[in-house]
Amino acid sequence: MPTRPADPAQVLAQLDDIVGPATMAMAGPRFFGFVIGGSLPVTVASNWLATAWDQNAGLAAATPGVSRLEEIALRWLKEIFGLPATTQGAFVTGATMANFTALAAARHGVLAQAGWSVEADGLFGAPPITVIVGEEVHPTLLKSLGLLGLGRRRITRVPVDTHGRMRADRLPRIAGPTILCAQAGNVNTGAFDPLRELCAAAQEAGAWCHVDGAFGLWARASKPLAALAEGIELADSWATDAHKWLNVPYDSGLAFVREPGILPASMAISAEYLPQGDGARNPSDFTPELSRRARGVDVWAALASLGREGLAEMFERNCRGAKRFAAGLAAAGYEILNDVVLNQVLVSFGDAALTERIVQAIQVDGTCWCGRTVWQGHTAMRISVCSWATTDEDVEASLTAILRVAATARGRRA
Ligand SMILES: Cc1ncc(COP(=O)(O)O)c(C=O)c1O
Repeated sequence: MPTRPADPAQVLAQLDDIVGPATMAMAGPRFFGFVIGGSLPVTVASNWLATAWDQNAGLAAATPGVSRLEEIALRWLKEIFGLPATTQGAFVTGATMANFTALAAARHGVLAQAGWSVEADGLFGAPPITVIVGEEVHPTLLKSLGLLGLGRRRITRVPVDTHGRMRADRLPRIAGPTILCAQAGNVNTGAFDPLRELCAAAQEAGAWCHVDGAFGLWARASKPLAALAEGIELADSWATDAHKWLNVPYDSGLAFVREPGILPASMAISAEYLPQGDGARNPSDFTPELSRRARGVDVWAALASLGREGLAEMFERNCRGAKRFAAGLAAAGYEILNDVVLNQVLVSFGDAALTERIVQAIQVDGTCWCGRTVWQGHTAMRISVCSWATTDEDVEASLTAILRVAATARGRRA
């Protein structure tokens, strides 16, 4: 920590010189790691604008412009996802916080039904809540449950099928305050739980159905892909984010709750020094935080610039890319482990050690970047196609490089 002030231009140059080269090309067209997407140029620019405005977007009275923009973006998103008109939404940081926020509303909902105010009285002495998840639940949903006092381990796990989808026929009998957590988009396979059946089972038993749709919810923006998420509109809450597949910079998670009033009941605060909304929507009444950046700006910019057609084209191009990877790898004799229904591909190059070696060699080659995973006992390379910048040519160039590297590694072993 320097003692004396420094020239800001020098500080920036230092950052650029030292940290710039130590970053990963996550924004690039041939980055297929995790499920993180890039950032549409318009959203990078809108992000700079919003940063320069430096609005504390918690309160509508203090920041009417960006608060209104959030409302518009949320309305557009509800239309894209086909969520019920009553649904209220919130901009949070990412899908983890979206799950947390929606599950806080779920906790409120099921306990209020049982005559208990969890915000006022906490969980000590509260009626117990049963939480049901699929065997391949994302770990951040479990983390959210832990943060909410519902326990990462205190859950009922339902077995999944060979695609990683929760088996509706293996649901336990549902009784008492219950939250059923379904998934739209398995992080390994891209598979969707049988949402209609799960939502119906929850509804019949008076339970709450929550859907983690971190990237899968976006399938609703495309006619050919929307069928994957059929029935999702019947859920009580949804979590997603825009930093993965909408290709918006970070701090763009989204929580939605069907029944109006529940989200503010679990999130809102008041204090004499804070102006109330006076009829306008106060963003902080819907989120865990009070102070926050103007998160809706970049989502608005992405949607305004892509339009419905651009949105569908981006998702469909990415899914076409995933299918092309799967076909090319299968044609070369490698095993595709998943049914490629969305933008995720799992490929095995042979035994675990060989697959690991080939994944590493592909990363070193540098034409593209893919990660590794172990799914249902199989070591695999994960290809996640979710960048606005990925063209069909990028997919071909990457596929050629992957096949070349894999053939070399196998040749060396033989
Ligand atoms: C299904 C699912 N849920 C939640 C998350 C967590 O998202 P975030 O990293 O935005 O918190 C992910 C991340 O990949 C995911 O795939």
